[in-house]
Amino acid sequence: MRLADERLNVLEHPLIAHKMSIMRDGSTAPSQFRQLVHEVAMLEVYEASRDLATEPVEVETPLRRTVGKRIAGEKLAVVPILRAGMGMLDGVLSAIPSAAVGVLGMERDEQTHQPHEYYAKMPRGIADRTVFLIDPMLATGGSALSAIHYLREQGVCDIRFLVLVAAPEGVRAVLQEDPDVRIWTCALDDGLNEQAYILPGLGDAGDRIFGTL
Ligand code: PRP
Ligand code: URA
Repeated sequence: MRLADERLNVLEHPLIAHKMSIMRDGSTAPSQFRQLVHEVAMLEVYEASRDLATEPVEVETPLRRTVGKRIAGEKLAVVPILRAGMGMLDGVLSAIPSAAVGVLGMERDEQTHQPHEYYAKMPRGIADRTVFLIDPMLATGGSALSAIHYLREQGVCDIRFLVLVAAPEGVRAVLQEDPDVRIWTCALDDGLNEQAYILPGLGDAGDRIFGTL
């Protein structure tokens, strides 16, 4: 499969590129790193929500009646993959505050790199919602695929997976395994090292967000 897949969106924007460079810098403190994850997540969901359907709505301004638009009946949910995905949650919610939130706990085994699901709590009616699945890192794709399988089992049709840094290996795995998921990433990096860390990447996103280095 080519990586120039129409389901893969690599965001190119000066603001995102600038913020990502500071985040990649290993000397950036957790407080600034966290703030930047928040800002980039807000910009990213703006792009990933571009095609949500709208419907006309009548509005009475202080001067006269007019017709505006509102999001048409689509119920939205944001699902962070714990723990690092929590760093993106507030940024996404600041753009779509009415979205419901579900959480999925996945941890990657440091030796085998296999994900282990340890927690799941979804909002009511998850099957009918457009789901923004969020995690800063897409490396082998194991955690993402477990999360996507879980959401498919819950009946979710529209999954939009938002990451900050993706490795080609992970992107291929996710797109090959699931025929419908769409991915947004702020960077498509070179590949993985022997420990399945993304190169050049930004290190361990969860540790940098939560200061557990
Ligand atoms: C990281 C990251 C992803 C996963 C990516 O989480 O946030 O969830 O690894 O790797 P993969 O594509 O190879 O599965 P990690 O398991 O380190 O847990 P954390 O969020 O608690 O730091
Ligand atoms: N998880 C991270 O946090 N960083 C990587 O590079 C790979 C997995």
